Amino acid sequence: MACILDGNGRWAEERGLVRSEGHGHGADPARRMVETADDMGLQWLSMYVFSTENWARPAAEVAVIMRAIERFIDANLESWHRRGIRIRYLGQPHNQVPSSLRSAMTRSAAVTASNTGMTVTVALNHGGQGDIVHAVRSIVAAGVPAGQITERTLAAHLPHPDMPPVDLLIRTSGEMRLSGFLLWHMAYAELVFLPDLWPDMTPEKFREAIEIYRHRSRRFGKVATR
Ligand code: IPE
Ligand code: IPE
Ligand code: MG
Repeated sequence: MACILDGNGRWAEERGLVRSEGHGHGADPARRMVETADDMGLQWLSMYVFSTENWARPAAEVAVIMRAIERFIDANLESWHRRGIRIRYLGQPHNQVPSSLRSAMTRSAAVTASNTGMTVTVALNHGGQGDIVHAVRSIVAAGVPAGQITERTLAAHLPHPDMPPVDLLIRTSGEMRLSGFLLWHMAYAELVFLPDLWPDMTPEKFREAIEIYRHRSRRFGKVATR
């Protein structure tokens, strides 16, 4: 399962607050989503928290987002580790990611690396097109003959090649687009767009989205089976 945590800015604006104040209010729903997914026995959860395009936001807002992510990791690492959750990150290194956040990322990934429960992938400075470009570069650098390149070759050169295709994508805030998230893995994903702004997200709404997914007919190009 994958999730685009969207709508923090509008949530704050609706309350007469500055946009940035919404980001801190995104942490609690994120924590509860991880716990609910784990309680439900999901094995893979990917969360889009910062895109390569988000650097175009005002520096002050970027700083607030980075701090919120760092707090989110620090506040939850112990509980995730106790649950056997493996945490890892998806996104190119970037010199504007504060060093304290970088060390929180490195530490949390290292501490939980050998856990065998749910894998939580936090997409920070991620872009699906960029990942595909990097994969192509590494295929070329490895000298793979053009005629031998298949979907499997490309998948094997993406970051975290063990990550399975996305079955369900949830995006909050009513926006109906991918904004570059996990483009390769999303080829046959079922998309569920919720009107709720991210800070208003609850475990109940999350379970409802999964219920919607359960009623979808997945065909993968075949004739529908009933
Ligand atoms: C999602 O909320 C958080 C990030 C993109 C980091 P937004 O900040 O995009 O909130 P809206 O979409 O502007 O309401
Ligand atoms: C996408 O949200 C990235 C994250 C939620 C992290 P945006 O709010 O940045 O996406 P657009 O600009 O509305 O497509
Ligand atoms: Mg947004």
